[in-house]
Amino acid sequence: MKTIIRNELNKHLALEFEAAYKYMAMSHWFDLNDLPGFATWMQTQSDDEFTHARKIINHLLERDQQVVLPPIEQPGTEWPSPVAIVEEALAAERNVTASINDLYELAGKENDRAAQIMLQWFINEQVEEENVARAILGRLRLAGDNGVGLLMVDQEMSSGGVPGAMPDPGEAN
Ligand SMILES: [Fe+2]
Ligand SMILES: [Fe+2]
Repeated sequence: MKTIIRNELNKHLALEFEAAYKYMAMSHWFDLNDLPGFATWMQTQSDDEFTHARKIINHLLERDQQVVLPPIEQPGTEWPSPVAIVEEALAAERNVTASINDLYELAGKENDRAAQIMLQWFINEQVEEENVARAILGRLRLAGDNGVGLLMVDQEMSSGGVPGAMPDPGEAN
């Protein structure tokens, strides 16, 4: 593995860990604001992000490459609304998608087939994650400031279904 792709994969780890940490904090906010369906969903997202980081770490280790764990930025504790949280989460996902696309392009330039194949999983995963976040954001915007609407969406979240989002085929991490 070339140094440049190794370094960039290591740098990307920060985005996955920061998402994991941020989603954990968001889950706590939902918990404290009596939206348990959202809290559980966000905690699951957080766990997934740790799994993503682990996937890249395993790839590096399997190829005898050094892993440099990044410092993780401290997430916030306060958000004005559930909509603001999901908007921030969607922005974070788009950021990750851009980074994955850059990594894939770099792996292509470096003729690193193994890295490309590993990254293909992430490309599919990002389509799914953005799709789900957008669908949930849509539901939240429909509910607006209506408490009953919000409770209904939270109920949907806790029953596992996110209307408008395709079922996730790729969660076999
Ligand atoms: Fe991720
Ligand atoms: Fe994600």
